[in-house]
Amino acid sequence: MEQENKLSFLQFLNTLRWSFAFQMKLSPVVAVLKVAVIVFIELEPLVYAYIFARLLDVAIGIAGTGAEPQEIIPALGLLFGYNIISSAVNHSNYYLSSVLSTFNNFKTPYYFYQHIHSLGIQTLEVPDVVNKIQRSKETLNLLNQDFERGSIFFAKIITLLVAALVIVKMMPIFTGIIILTVIPGMLSSKYFLQKQWRLWRNETENRRRARNIFDILIETINLQEIFITSAYGYLSGVYRKYTDYFATADLKILRKWRSYGFLFGLLTSSASIAGYFIIFKNFLKGLISVGDVTFQIRSLNIFISNLTSMSGSYTALRERSIRIAEIKEVFEMKPNITDGAVVLPENETPPNITLKNVSFAYPRAETNVIKNLNLEIKPGEKIAIVGENGAGKTTLVRILSRFYKVSEGEILLDSTNINDIKIESWYKNLGVLFQDYNTYSPLTLKENIHLGNAHEKLDEERMIEAANKANVNSFLANFKNGYDQVLSEKFKGGTRPSTGQWQKIAIARFFYRNSPVVIFDEPTASIDAVSESEIFGQIYDFFKGKTVIIISHRFSTVRNADKIYVLDKGEIIESGSHDELMARKGKYHHAFTIQAEGYRA
Ligand SMILES: Nc1ncnc2c1ncn2[C@@H]1O[C@H](COP(=O)(O)OP(=O)(O)OP(=O)(O)O)[C@@H](O)[C@H]1O
Ligand SMILES: [Mg+2]
Repeated sequence: MEQENKLSFLQFLNTLRWSFAFQMKLSPVVAVLKVAVIVFIELEPLVYAYIFARLLDVAIGIAGTGAEPQEIIPALGLLFGYNIISSAVNHSNYYLSSVLSTFNNFKTPYYFYQHIHSLGIQTLEVPDVVNKIQRSKETLNLLNQDFERGSIFFAKIITLLVAALVIVKMMPIFTGIIILTVIPGMLSSKYFLQKQWRLWRNETENRRRARNIFDILIETINLQEIFITSAYGYLSGVYRKYTDYFATADLKILRKWRSYGFLFGLLTSSASIAGYFIIFKNFLKGLISVGDVTFQIRSLNIFISNLTSMSGSYTALRERSIRIAEIKEVFEMKPNITDGAVVLPENETPPNITLKNVSFAYPRAETNVIKNLNLEIKPGEKIAIVGENGAGKTTLVRILSRFYKVSEGEILLDSTNINDIKIESWYKNLGVLFQDYNTYSPLTLKENIHLGNAHEKLDEERMIEAANKANVNSFLANFKNGYDQVLSEKFKGGTRPSTGQWQKIAIARFFYRNSPVVIFDEPTASIDAVSESEIFGQIYDFFKGKTVIIISHRFSTVRNADKIYVLDKGEIIESGSHDELMARKGKYHHAFTIQAEGYRA
């Protein structure tokens, strides 16, 4: 369960300031105009009442004097002018709201993923960070709300002060009494609102679970299994259990809130009637005009209603700011790996890769996944890494990609420590097809391959060559749009490639990338044996002069490597060419023989 973290008043102001600054970043002009417009709109009823009161006085002043009706026109003109301005401001308000929400919908996610991208994998795998990002993602739209509600709150304070000026002058002591009658309502609003927010916050985890179940229940790919296992009733039950509980608890709070609201409202109503009495008394004594009566009554009403709603708005702002503070934290997070400064030259020859006594444990994990590893990969070498599940093969790839800093030892590229290298320059030389590779399903086949080197314009000829090398041509005919086929059935004219086809497309992407160092982590898990031998029969030829590292459970894929490393529990236990390793009759020989027998049987 989430800790109910309270923000101090200063932190609250700081968060509010940040969320205003964020809107200023989205569009300074719109943000400033929006605040001005909101202040105008909040003040409007008061200003209108004032102008109308003057109009009334003018009319009463000339009534019965036989004056021409035209004499009322200047005062009426003033009201008309004001109406035009106020109507323009109100329309601008709608427009500005739309502009701001459009900016928030489109630009905020952009800033969000841009910042997350800058954090790096090591930071992004910390569970606390993952949770914060998840929650922020759900509440990004609050930034806009917070700005709007915050502006309204300040505008209400200004209006309240202006109204107070009018009232206090008329009935100084009575103003104090009114404030007293409003307090119970304020407190009860604050109480129930907090209760509601607490319910919302305490239910975060359940709500997320329900939302995940909802997602599962509307996704075709998940429904396949659900149809077979008849899991629908159970899953729907879990969803209903949460939503029913939440709705019931929420409505219960609302019912109580409204009942108390009604009772306390009676108190305030009595006070306002007493206020009217004072105003009329002054009128009957001839102290104020009819216009003054209307203006003062309006001021009194505005004073009471702003005062009543103030505490609710304030509590809502404070509660909201707890969540905004979390978004702010995400935006202010810094990567916990600092980038190096040495720029690796971008050329055809790959760097020498050396691992010296490298040990590595995942952040917050106890045991080393990589243990005292020594390895040298010469430029242009073709090496293979084999080992059981969990041996640390993928982890090795991830530390070579500097997603993590190693705990001990060093990784050298030529003679520079990988930590001192400007990481972008290493990535320019590196291609990694991860075990859990990406499938860019909203994009076309062509784009999926081009993404291997998307910072350069697409080279159509090379793209087709890469596709052919990766055996994509074997199923290209299935796509009615050829290379322009969108790879998801969820988009018009799209289809979904099979799992093995996706893997071939991903391999094509890294053929196209054609980087000096290329790593394939278990690239053929879903690929049939015939295609596999076709793809890997030519892989070393294609990457001539480049460093190739292949990780595979299929020994047929790795046997042609210059050197094979057997990784076991984070350590290299055997290495050599296929023939050397077979001659050794060790672990490699054992595993190879079992697999070969399996195929033969
Ligand atoms: N992000 C992570 N945080 C903590 N532990 C991890 C993480 N990723 C992997 N591990 C652990 O590190 C060990 C090595 O995992 P790794 O993925 O490197 O194995 P592998 O050799 O690639 O296995 P496979 O053949 O199944 O792909 C495993 O015990 C795994 O549980
Ligand atoms: Mg792996």
